[in-house]
Amino acid sequence: MAVPVHEQKVQAVVAPAVPFILRPQPAVDCAKEKCVALTFDDGPGRYTERLLDQLKKENARATFYLLGQNAPLYPQTLRRMVSEGHQLGNHTFDHKSLTALSKAQVSEEVNASAQKIKDIAGFAPDTMRPPYGARNPEVDSLINVPMVLWDVDTLDWKHHDPKQTVKIALDEVSDGSIILMHDIHESSVKAVPQLISKLKHKGYKLVTVNELFSDQDFVGSKTYARRA
Ligand code: NI
Repeated sequence: MAVPVHEQKVQAVVAPAVPFILRPQPAVDCAKEKCVALTFDDGPGRYTERLLDQLKKENARATFYLLGQNAPLYPQTLRRMVSEGHQLGNHTFDHKSLTALSKAQVSEEVNASAQKIKDIAGFAPDTMRPPYGARNPEVDSLINVPMVLWDVDTLDWKHHDPKQTVKIALDEVSDGSIILMHDIHESSVKAVPQLISKLKHKGYKLVTVNELFSDQDFVGSKTYARRA
């Protein structure tokens, strides 16, 4: 669905900037507690609000790797993510593989997305995730925020099975894991209540990516697939 440019501008103008002071401070010490970061890619989408309801009910935080082209379609959802303590990440404007692009195109993909998110949320994302995890030294050199990959791939986009999503995540998770899921699929969102409940039962704290790395070296042009 394409949003006319004039509507995007209206949404950006009426969007109140989120004061920095409202952003949550790290509440969990991942050096002392078992931590896991749930990450949701490619949204926001039509199931994202339902996911936010589930996360709120469980008092769990997550990180959303957003596509710049989707952000203006769900401005209230982005602001809700921020106000409920979740982290917004940059997943490029429209999900192109960055290793197939020129330097100028890589910058455009990343910067256009950052600007769209900033227009709505009040600040640009401070981490990014390259689509397909595709990167190389040239791409790395152009990205001035940490590049966040994952160590647990639920393959949710492939099997569309909530039980399988939960099983893979629980089989592969360990302290410091980053779990990859996609909130654009209803089956993925359906997996979340049970996944959170079982992770909590195993003693994990559900944190954002920034919280996971809050006491560690976490810098631009470098990739991170789990807490070291
Ligand atoms: Ni993606």
